[in-house]
Amino acid sequence: MLRASNHASSPAIMAFLIPSRAARPGDDPIFALNSEARTRAAAGESVINATVGSLLSDDGRLATLASVISELAKTSPTVAAGYAPIAGNAEFLRGVIADLMGDRKSAEWAVAVATPGGTGALRHAIANFLEPKQALLTTSFYWGPYKTLADESDRGLVTFRMFDERGGLDTAAFSTELGKLLREQGRALVLLNSPCHNPTGYSFSAEEWREVARILREHANLGPITVCLDVAYAKFGGQLAAMLDEMTSLLPDVLVVIAWSASKTFLQYGLRIGALCALHPDASERKRLEAALTYSCRGTWSNVNAGGMAAIARILQTPTIREAVDAERDQCVELLGKRVARFNELAGAKGLHYPRYDGGFFTTVMTKNAFDVALRLKAKGVFVVPQEGAIRIALCSVAEADIPRLVDEVASALG
Ligand SMILES: Cc1ncc(COP(=O)(O)O)c(C=O)c1O
Repeated sequence: MLRASNHASSPAIMAFLIPSRAARPGDDPIFALNSEARTRAAAGESVINATVGSLLSDDGRLATLASVISELAKTSPTVAAGYAPIAGNAEFLRGVIADLMGDRKSAEWAVAVATPGGTGALRHAIANFLEPKQALLTTSFYWGPYKTLADESDRGLVTFRMFDERGGLDTAAFSTELGKLLREQGRALVLLNSPCHNPTGYSFSAEEWREVARILREHANLGPITVCLDVAYAKFGGQLAAMLDEMTSLLPDVLVVIAWSASKTFLQYGLRIGALCALHPDASERKRLEAALTYSCRGTWSNVNAGGMAAIARILQTPTIREAVDAERDQCVELLGKRVARFNELAGAKGLHYPRYDGGFFTTVMTKNAFDVALRLKAKGVFVVPQEGAIRIALCSVAEADIPRLVDEVASALG
């Protein structure tokens, strides 16, 4: 235990940080790798930086959508300078609900609050649907910040094996772990990321969503289950309709919440706009959900970027602007699609082992020695993100012309 000292010549260090915060790693591993890759590239080395989840054009510049940039520029300075409502701009929230739910009947059962990105939405889900010390349940491959978000809220994270022997979603493992968790803690928060799961690139099939729904329904009598659908990459893959059909069929036995993000949807990662949408058929329960989530906004970031939210609201709610943005995004999906096709062709031929990959920002190549493989690749100027059992490759930031070198280096680093 570190103590204060009164002796001026031997200053002891006071334990200002509480013990649970005293050994936090300050560096986000992905951002740290990205910065190393950029430093080496700036020094003249030929580097492939497949670390960060932002879409880059084939000439290495950040891809943006012209109509989004133009709407942002049109935002009135007084709107941008003022405080936004705590729960978010009402037009924006209606726009998000319509974007997610379309003309589904269950759109009437939706309430939403604005959050800084999808990250903020996940934060609210963790803090409102689990007690402190309880654990959320997610797939064994997951986006690292899920754990950081859980830690930060004094919650835990447990996983179920993501893939079975056939390479599909391991729904049997999901069922086992969900049952176990409900018996242990009396409630569950299930966090599922599809389409274009980060890090694996996997999109659950319609049958897998049906099976997930069946399992959730089967367990609903063991305690309150909230399923949080992280749809950050929804515009880059399919199966959203199948997911919503299955998940809304669970209402009200299972609570369904959806983490929406403008970061990838509008290629505006820095704008920090997102929303958490909750669906419940009972009006008084909806009021309670809305109040709890609004309270969480006030108790964390207070309110989100007013100017950004106003611009996104206009885009979502004005059909002509929305269509222009959709058309621009389609070109980006096509750019990414070409990289995915090239990767599938070359990686398949080299026998790399990776989940079904039909689109999206990332894929993962399975390997037992992910950390060693990533180090060997780094020595060759190829930056990927290692995690237990796999290396994540962000094809969103790799030019199509670099994919042959990337695949060759990965194949030789795997040995
Ligand atoms: C799986 C997943 N969920 C959510 C997010 C949220 O991102 P943001 O907070 O930028 O909206 C990301 C961003 O990389 C992600 O990969």
